Amino acid sequence: MPRQRPSAKWCLLVAVFLPIVQLLICPAAGQSARKSHPWMNPSLSPDERAAMVVKEMTLDEKIQLLHGTGMAGLSPMSPLAVHSNGGAGYVVEIPRLGIPSIQMSDAAYGVRMSGENGRYSTALPSCLGGAASWDLQGGFAYGALIGRELRAQGYNISLGGGVNLTREPRNGRTFEYMGEDPVLAGTMVASVIKGVQAQHVLGDIKHYALNDQESGRNAVNVNIDKRAARESDLLAFEIGIAESDPAGVMCSYNRVNGDYACENKYLLNDLLKQDWKFKGFVLSDWGAAHSVVKASAAGLDHEEPGWIFYGDDLKKAVEAGTVPQSELDDHVHRILRAMFAVGLMDDPVQRSVPDVLGGLEVARKLEEQSIVLLRNQKSQLPLDRAKIRSIAVIGPHADVGMISGGGSAQVDPPGGNAILPPGKGQTRWLEPIWFPTSPLQSIWAQAPRAKVQFDSGADPATAAALAKNSDVAIVFVYQWESEDMDLPSLALPDHQDDLIEKVAEANPHTVVVVESGGPITMPWVDKVSSILEAWYAGSSGSDAVANVLFGDVNPSGKLPLTFPRSEADLPHPSIVKPPRESRPNFMQGEPWKQIAAGLPPFQVTYDEGVKVGYKWYDAEKKAVLFPFGFGLSYTTYAYSNLKVTPGKSPSVTFTVKNAGKRDGAEVAEVYASLPASTSEPPKRLVGFSKVALKAGESKEVTVEVNPKYLSIFNVEQNGWQLVPGTYSFMVGGSSESLPLKQAVTLN
Ligand code: BGC
Repeated sequence: MPRQRPSAKWCLLVAVFLPIVQLLICPAAGQSARKSHPWMNPSLSPDERAAMVVKEMTLDEKIQLLHGTGMAGLSPMSPLAVHSNGGAGYVVEIPRLGIPSIQMSDAAYGVRMSGENGRYSTALPSCLGGAASWDLQGGFAYGALIGRELRAQGYNISLGGGVNLTREPRNGRTFEYMGEDPVLAGTMVASVIKGVQAQHVLGDIKHYALNDQESGRNAVNVNIDKRAARESDLLAFEIGIAESDPAGVMCSYNRVNGDYACENKYLLNDLLKQDWKFKGFVLSDWGAAHSVVKASAAGLDHEEPGWIFYGDDLKKAVEAGTVPQSELDDHVHRILRAMFAVGLMDDPVQRSVPDVLGGLEVARKLEEQSIVLLRNQKSQLPLDRAKIRSIAVIGPHADVGMISGGGSAQVDPPGGNAILPPGKGQTRWLEPIWFPTSPLQSIWAQAPRAKVQFDSGADPATAAALAKNSDVAIVFVYQWESEDMDLPSLALPDHQDDLIEKVAEANPHTVVVVESGGPITMPWVDKVSSILEAWYAGSSGSDAVANVLFGDVNPSGKLPLTFPRSEADLPHPSIVKPPRESRPNFMQGEPWKQIAAGLPPFQVTYDEGVKVGYKWYDAEKKAVLFPFGFGLSYTTYAYSNLKVTPGKSPSVTFTVKNAGKRDGAEVAEVYASLPASTSEPPKRLVGFSKVALKAGESKEVTVEVNPKYLSIFNVEQNGWQLVPGTYSFMVGGSSESLPLKQAVTLN
């Protein structure tokens, strides 16, 4: 959300009245005081250390830890916010006890707001792009880079970790999430969070839960049955939390089955804290808190960005006994425990110069792993430098940059928006930002002897004329997404479908590079020779794309979500929009007050239930454009020798061979269908492994399957249940290409 800095008047007040200044003037004293506290003994457990601090705290100090210090437009501002590092949130330090401030920054695909703070951040491929790599080590590297750059910029918590399932692909935040499958999304987000926390920076997973559309997010009530929710959206969180032990869970704006997510006892206390044994703290999304007593009892630990509820009102409630002291202490304990557990207390952040060149390299390598080759007729790709004499590079802004995802995920590009004069392009809410990574330059660098010419595509006829006179035409198309909006449709905007049609008519060697946040429709799919899905490609996107186009990198990404043929095939033909009364009314005062008070709900019913993504298309027998898990390579892979060993965690062993002439990496996917009595969709992903294979090489791969991934959620027993019966295991390179199959009985 946009934010403002407090004025100089406030700074003066702070300087006069607040003891915190002691720390600023004399930081060394603060540090040595911190070291001498008994809870600074690292041989004690995080719980023991947190409990010792809680005992020493006054009521005011406790309350101070449970809320942020405000954000213009979303809550009142505290004078203390002057100490903020410039990120989305700031929690005041307690020098007396050696508790540092919590400096929060959004960091979905890189650290946000560096532009206005005069700093630099790397933009990685979008989170969805990261998921398309199916590479858990890559996920760790993704999180580790974010953690390092957060530290370098003085932040100690990452507000990243988006894992809402792509139940509605027109959701404007699809690029911030990890696709449509809970096993892929949950394991990938866990590897990212592990990477962040390995840098001693608190990790966060969000938006819990079922915040699957942006339209009316502050009012919508999501209706879904418990079994479906547990087996889909909530399973992604369950896996992510179990595998990465994140410091924070951000509860979302929407209501779920009647209650706001941030005061939803079922989601917070019953599920997250009791069933899943989550030890960290729940923080509200920015402006998503709605009460004191109800929220506190339901399990909300911390309010952001301000203290509409968790300031004086919480204090009064504790004094009056409507919020028990033990409940308050638990909120505080959870935050402190997380700080100790992640190592933030023993290794506090220190600012440094970010490793810019190292960041560019990480971003390029991750993007090279994430690009998905969707079509490659007559092996048009990779392009042969020795033979190609002329290349037409076509498409909006393909001479200067590649598009990025907007909203609170937005990373600021160095020099400003690449399509504006250098230094002039501020990033502004709901305005598309192009990163200065130029497809034209990168392609030219790959083929220095070829004549490389550019046409923006503004006039399809001139673009087609250039294409006609070139050996190959490469068309860069985009679809921009952002928080705070949903897409009107999956079609490319700005007549780009027409542009592609015209270019493809003029040149049979047309390659389309798609920069999108999620799936798009492709009415021209059969007319072009090759298609690359590059997602939002990050700081080094154009080099990564060029490396794939010219074969320096063999593509290995696979789709983390289905590309449907048309919107008519989606579970819901259109997104339900909020009625007028469910939107803040600017004539009736400040929107944040109306949101905090609770806007009248409107209903969205996910009656497709567990049938998210491929499970929907499979069950409904709808043909798709490109299936979940699909992605081509410049080589081919052969699967053989399946052997399923039943047991508590069945193991699935098979051989993958690189049957072609280029080295590569194959994402081997394992699916299972459950006994018919379970009434589950035809199949589900239960495991995967990305295998590097030299040309001609074979490897035996074993995937251990977590029994939960084979189970259904039994609502009566409130637990996962493996239903005895016949399970078919299927293995292959996409959800629709599964050459190996074996049925086993599991009890
Ligand atoms: C977004 C969160 C983000 C927060 C802070 C909210 O609008 O939904 O994802 O972390 O703002 O910027």
